[in-house]
Amino acid sequence: MSGIVYGVGVGPGDPELITLKAHRLISEADVVAYPAPDSGDSFARRIVADFLPKGVREIPMIVPMRVERFPAQDVYDAGAAEISKAAKAGKNVVVLCEGDPFFYGSFMYLFARLSGDIEMQVVPGVSSLGAVTAAAQTPLCAREETLSVLPATLDEAELVERLNRVNAVAMMKIGRHFAKAKRAIDAAGLTDRAMFVSHASLPEQHACPLADAPETAPYFSMIVIPGRDAHV
Ligand SMILES: C[S@@+](CC[C@H](N)C(=O)[O-])C[C@H]1O[C@@H](n2cnc3c(N)ncnc32)[C@H](O)[C@@H]1O
Repeated sequence: MSGIVYGVGVGPGDPELITLKAHRLISEADVVAYPAPDSGDSFARRIVADFLPKGVREIPMIVPMRVERFPAQDVYDAGAAEISKAAKAGKNVVVLCEGDPFFYGSFMYLFARLSGDIEMQVVPGVSSLGAVTAAAQTPLCAREETLSVLPATLDEAELVERLNRVNAVAMMKIGRHFAKAKRAIDAAGLTDRAMFVSHASLPEQHACPLADAPETAPYFSMIVIPGRDAHV
């Protein structure tokens, strides 16, 4: 009998923000798979390192950083093939997903490749969005306000155009797009309400008004702009 492939959200960084279900599935996994950069550790694996079962088989999927904006098709093809082989041999495979699997998560590329062929279950996780607003100590939106999630990878003119029409904003994937993001927020007249948060929920967490943010931002950072009705 085939095993099940679980896409498991492991939260934004603090291991205490892992759900009980994620903890159980990871602790009982035959095989774990996870994306990892070509230099350095996998963030998702680091979150769960303390409760990976002894001797568990690991399938790292090495995603070159230079393809940040596009799925590395061949990496996910190879990862999906290996995961499929393990599941068809009767093993339960847990794919570790930072935050929530389906919120800008690369798990979607494996799901697209495997879901017709193998039983798959998705276990939602605490998204970085909640961790960021908690770190910034600000409610995000209230009453009839809408929330816009904007990737900072959009070009500057498009960012400004969208920012001119928003209530509350979460801007993700800041990293090397930080200077452009700040210029766009400034052009839309929103800097005074904007908060910057990096590494939310981790010991190195940093939260401050955007105007006081460091010159550069790590990949794991976000800008939130609360709506005008969202008061403390
Ligand atoms: C590819 S998306 C993955 C989002 C993830 N699936 C989730 O549910 O949070 C990566 C982006 O999420 C944001 N992010 C993830 N973890 C974060 C953290 N701990 N602190 C701040 N931002 C974070 C950053 O904007 C980062 O560039």
